[in-house]
Amino acid sequence: MVKKLWGGRFKKEIDKDFFQFQKSIQYDYRLAEYDIYHSIIHVSALKESGLLTVIEAKELTIALNEIFTEVREEKFKPNMNAEDIHSDIQDRVEKKVGKLSEKLHTLRSRNDQVVFDEKWYCYKEGIYVISLLNVILSSLNHFGNRYRDCYIPGYTHTQRAQVVSFLSYTGAYFCMFERDFERLDVFLKKSSIYIGSGALAGSAIPRAAYSEALRKFLEKTKAMSLSSKSLAVRNPLDNVASRDFVIEFLNILSIIQMHLSRMAEDFILFSTKEFGFFDLPEEFCTGSSLMPHKKNPDFLELVRGNTGKIYGNLMSILVTMKGLPLTYNRDMQLDKEPLFSSVETIKDELKITVDLIGKIELNRKRLEDALKDEELYATELVEFLVYQGVAFSRAHEVVGKLIRYSEDEGIKIKDMSDKTLSKFNCKLTHKDIRKIMNPKYAVSSKKSFSAPKKTTSVKSPRFK
Ligand code: ARG
Repeated sequence: MVKKLWGGRFKKEIDKDFFQFQKSIQYDYRLAEYDIYHSIIHVSALKESGLLTVIEAKELTIALNEIFTEVREEKFKPNMNAEDIHSDIQDRVEKKVGKLSEKLHTLRSRNDQVVFDEKWYCYKEGIYVISLLNVILSSLNHFGNRYRDCYIPGYTHTQRAQVVSFLSYTGAYFCMFERDFERLDVFLKKSSIYIGSGALAGSAIPRAAYSEALRKFLEKTKAMSLSSKSLAVRNPLDNVASRDFVIEFLNILSIIQMHLSRMAEDFILFSTKEFGFFDLPEEFCTGSSLMPHKKNPDFLELVRGNTGKIYGNLMSILVTMKGLPLTYNRDMQLDKEPLFSSVETIKDELKITVDLIGKIELNRKRLEDALKDEELYATELVEFLVYQGVAFSRAHEVVGKLIRYSEDEGIKIKDMSDKTLSKFNCKLTHKDIRKIMNPKYAVSSKKSFSAPKKTTSVKSPRFK
């Protein structure tokens, strides 16, 4: 077992089962990189405050940098006998520098480390997610423009409602992901890193030493967007006790998930034989072990299905935190698995969704057939009459009667003669109807919003 960071006051060894039950290394190894940052800054602050000599600080920093390189090169294998990532790294430093390692943890607490690590993790992963959102925005943009001459039935209540342009359809998802982008952008801009809370009450190391150490480190690592507000702690109790930044991040991820899931549901429906508007790329579908004809939209189903997990992860941390007395409590260790799970799932989903969108083909024939449905133009007939001076409720009724007549008599509205139309006591002529019941007319008759542009500008992520 790796040496514990505590134990002096204990007479008995920790129970083996309890040790296994409480350890977190099996998942918090993901924080290794940030935990090393904490140690490097801490060592520098210890040096600034005269608690380490320049040589000692240098030796410790070299050891930490070596471990950091292992992490970066993906050669770091977490030691499953360690209690957590903090103990694991401490142990590795000991193996490198021997007795000097006893000074690494001088006057610091894992409570300060863990919140520092998680904040940095959220920041870094947030940057990755925002860049993926950017890619999804441009892929939706391309998709819409690839079929910019196409129209599609728009739905309410999953019933055919009115015709929209395909670019408007993809544009709706574009707008949703654009808001997600903006939400995440705000989150990233206000992200800040604190260090020096001790266990809860602050540290005997002067604030100036921590601030200076942190400033130097941020400058060196070029994590400048973090630097402006990243000073030593304002309130150490708050710092070790709070996880609202995790909740906020998972909230943003949950909204992204909700959008991905709705889009997945639409795409699943549109690729059924019943709709037949989309042809999904085979690479993202699977077959059936029994029914040879099947091409199932499994990726999209899994995206939709993951929503339970992603919402559950958010809920899990909200509930974990809701009754905790100040400050740090071990319950808070349980925020990590939900956090990692949501981040990893969303990243995979966004990446694969982008590839899928790039390869979906529209079935123009099926779309054209669907657009022949005359009911899709009922509202446009009403609008036409209203602009002719007919009162809205009267126009609504007339068009309703036309539809009823068409159904009862089995005659298309488009085929009704002027004589037939005159029975409805309205100003509609056969020629008007031919003009109105047309996707291009229906779409261009809408004046309340600007038509989707050929190339909608795509945000560029501010964080690299
Ligand atoms: N594994 C712990 C966590 O994730 C690290 C902090 C431990 N602190 C403590 N006082 N036991 O929260």
